[in-house]
Amino acid sequence: MFQLLLLAGVVLGGYIVLTQTLFKRSRCKGTAAVAGKTVIVTGGNTGIGKATALHLARRGARVVLACRNRDKAQSAIADIEQETGSTDVVYMHLDLASLKSVRCFAETFLKTESRLDLLINNAGLVADGQTEDGFGIEFGVNHLGHFLLTRLLLERLKESGRGRVVTLASMAYRWGRVDVEALAASKHLGTGTYSWQFFQAYCNSKLCNVLFTHELAKRLNGTNVTCYCVHPGIVHTELSRNVSLWQKLFIEPVARLLFLDPEAGAQTTLHCALQEGIEPLSGRYFSCCAAQEVCARGRDDATSRRLWEVSERFCGLS
Ligand SMILES: NC(=O)c1ccc[n+]([C@@H]2O[C@H](COP(=O)([O-])OP(=O)(O)OC[C@H]3O[C@@H](n4cnc5c(N)ncnc54)[C@H](OP(=O)(O)O)[C@@H]3O)[C@@H](O)[C@H]2O)c1
Ligand SMILES: *[C@@H]1O[C@H](CO)[C@@H](O)[C@H](O)[C@H]1NC(C)=O
Ligand SMILES: *[C@@H]1O[C@H](CO)[C@@H](O)[C@H](O)[C@H]1NC(C)=O
Ligand SMILES: *[C@@H]1O[C@H](CO)[C@@H](O)[C@H](O)[C@H]1NC(C)=O
Repeated sequence: MFQLLLLAGVVLGGYIVLTQTLFKRSRCKGTAAVAGKTVIVTGGNTGIGKATALHLARRGARVVLACRNRDKAQSAIADIEQETGSTDVVYMHLDLASLKSVRCFAETFLKTESRLDLLINNAGLVADGQTEDGFGIEFGVNHLGHFLLTRLLLERLKESGRGRVVTLASMAYRWGRVDVEALAASKHLGTGTYSWQFFQAYCNSKLCNVLFTHELAKRLNGTNVTCYCVHPGIVHTELSRNVSLWQKLFIEPVARLLFLDPEAGAQTTLHCALQEGIEPLSGRYFSCCAAQEVCARGRDDATSRRLWEVSERFCGLS
């Protein structure tokens, strides 16, 4: 009997500690008006991106869902419009695993949309493989596609006044390594068919997101455009769709018990998009709706500059 009570106490205590740390919730209190403004959300058809798009649509923004699959995007738009009453959510095709598709998206967007206020680089994946252009898929989609997209849309963000770029990173950046010279030679940051190998490549790509934001902030100094990167929390989404079956069996019960839902997972992104007065924090890493310190690797000036240069070269921009 006593042992049972002790066990129950330990389990409950553990649960409380976890929900106050790794699985802590927060709420965006930002109130910047977005009516009349235009937002792009990459990967806005599901998960955190869809919850973000829904919230911004509810507040009256024009929301462009930049997705690779028309049917999934149309069905997300139907859900969002039904739930918010908005009629200003549109689909534009974007496959971040193809630099040609990124250029095509930017061209269409710049031709058809007169302004851009918020660019939310949200799409991401954990998987093995290569992009159309031969880059490691996680580096290519999570970092490089978004790098080119941001570069091509930066002028429009500047024209619209106080534009913001919000990039979804992850606390997984802490386990990441970016060897830019090896990257320049091989076009990937780790490969391998085992889950742990592509999880390492995922962490590396998320460190790229942090370094990209660090460098972008410097390059935006003197403009009114700012940028932020985000750890959204640990969120129950489709992100684990490409991990192995036995890992899914392990993740799923924990996910149901502890993970945040996408609505809670969108709060820090929304904070970086809507909170007034955070402009002096441009370039920083946010989680739980607050700026956090990053470890030295995430703010290394030399690496972030080299990563920028190599990314430009990969994209044919230099
Ligand atoms: N979930 C978490 O616990 C967690 C933690 C830290 C960071 N994050 C980050 O949060 C972001 C959103 O993830 P999520 O959890 O919401 O995952 P998700 O439910 O799997 O959604 C990912 C989105 O990215 C899109 N995408 C994937 N590859 C793409 C490509 N080549 N071109 C265009 N879109 C592409 C997906 O489109 P399809 O539906 O067509 O595949 C989907 O819309 C990611 O950057 C992820 O790294 C998530
Ligand atoms: C922006 O430029 C100013 C003046 O040139 C400098 O003091 C400041 O540190 C710069 N900020 C960043 C984030 O680089
Ligand atoms: C930035 O915004 C301020 C205040 O609105 C304005 O005075 C300034 O000209 C803007 N700077 C640029 C580079 O657009
Ligand atoms: C990931 O899984 C999805 C659905 O299970 C599949 O369609 C897709 O091809 C996989 N992606 C990669 C890069 O392995």
